[in-house]
Amino acid sequence: MPVAPAADPTPDLSTSGSPASRRRHAPERTLVGIVGGGPAGLLLSHLLHRSGVDHVVLEARSREEIEHTHRAGILEAGAVQVLVDAGLDRVLRDGSRHDGIVLRFDGADHRIDLTGLTGRSVWLYPQTDVFIDLANQRAADGAYSSGGADGADGSGGVGGVGDVGDQVRWGATVTHVLDGGNVDGGSGGAVGSDSGGDRPGVLWTDRQGDTHELRCDVLVGADGSHSTLRHTLPESQRRTFVHEYPYAWFGVIVETPRSAPELVYTASEHGFALISQRTETHQRLYFQCDPDEDPARWTDDQIWAELQRRVAGPDGFRLVEGAVEERSVLRFRSSVVEPVRHGRMLLAGDAAHTVPPTGAKGLNLALADVVVLHDVLQTWLASGRRTGRRDDTVLDEYGRRVAERVWRAQHFSAWMSGMLHSHPGETDFAARRRLAELRMLVASESGRRFLAEGYTGWGPVLGEGAS
Ligand code: PHB
Repeated sequence: MPVAPAADPTPDLSTSGSPASRRRHAPERTLVGIVGGGPAGLLLSHLLHRSGVDHVVLEARSREEIEHTHRAGILEAGAVQVLVDAGLDRVLRDGSRHDGIVLRFDGADHRIDLTGLTGRSVWLYPQTDVFIDLANQRAADGAYSSGGADGADGSGGVGGVGDVGDQVRWGATVTHVLDGGNVDGGSGGAVGSDSGGDRPGVLWTDRQGDTHELRCDVLVGADGSHSTLRHTLPESQRRTFVHEYPYAWFGVIVETPRSAPELVYTASEHGFALISQRTETHQRLYFQCDPDEDPARWTDDQIWAELQRRVAGPDGFRLVEGAVEERSVLRFRSSVVEPVRHGRMLLAGDAAHTVPPTGAKGLNLALADVVVLHDVLQTWLASGRRTGRRDDTVLDEYGRRVAERVWRAQHFSAWMSGMLHSHPGETDFAARRRLAELRMLVASESGRRFLAEGYTGWGPVLGEGAS
């Protein structure tokens, strides 16, 4: 995607050779511009709507496309609370509460009693359902003018910004990010609440190819791991901490009943496997594979044989087999971008950090980010009402408050991954040491509690409370 790094003045696309039928619409303004309408962007939109804050969400994909993307399925108790507090309580009816997980190694099950050890549970409720709940709620609140599945032309049609019926725009592709002349010059200093052209913005195109300009007081990148916004932040002013893994997951959706009552995380000499669940009739299973594996190359029988040999043990445990309906390879990557604020541009969710799927932390972190960000934006707006000048240094609170949880989740996800996967070319010594770690962990109540605390999400984390 062509993205001009912080280009200003606005390039005039209407004279840049685009067909005459493509129009350039008059610039619009809003308080909060949100790039990305996945769970993070939509939760922020929902919270801002409830607080009466004018905003616009731009999402390149259609609602249907997002609904058909499979993502991880575990919500921490704290994330469930966020949804329920936001008025989205379907998770309590359609999700299933899990009070424990199983670590399987040496061909035997070792249960981690999450609730007994921490007083907290987790909920199996896939990210797709979180998205559907948010999208339905935003539709019920009239946030997209088509009122239905997909704002067909993405332009929102009628009404100016400030009109609720125009808050969420599907099929809206951001092509340029305009940083408003770098509102604080990178110094973090305060700027006026209405600094004319000194405000970030984006150029975006709708499905007809028409170009639109959106200017906002603050711009949030909630646009996923391939974030457009992140790539426009100056390299010299950000650090990206990255860890790559030499393995990936082969993920399948299968049509079978459950093989086990709880999730089973298996370490075997043939590699890792995770037996997760979806419904009475469909399950989500994964097994460790090479990052370059081609899922099309595997027959259903080969997939089942690989899964069965990873979970096999003297207890005779076997998976119930059935049709393999979907398959894909999920690559692993840990990354953290710092800082998450540049002037009046902020990053949230996968745009700011990614984790490998082993600890199922990605969505939980994104929701936690958004709750803090919403709170900080309220404080920032209030600073403007009090003094007539918004204090942009308030925006730094966001990064400070989410950092502890982000790094805990990074450690937890990398630790779980390392302990449970066989590393290509791993020595016999390293394999035995991993097994020793697993045995020590389950034999120790402290070890089991450490795992359970991380898996269920630690509860409130240092720094997250109000500043
Ligand atoms: C899933 O069900 O997709 C899932 C569950 C637990 C994980 C990762 C993925 O750790």
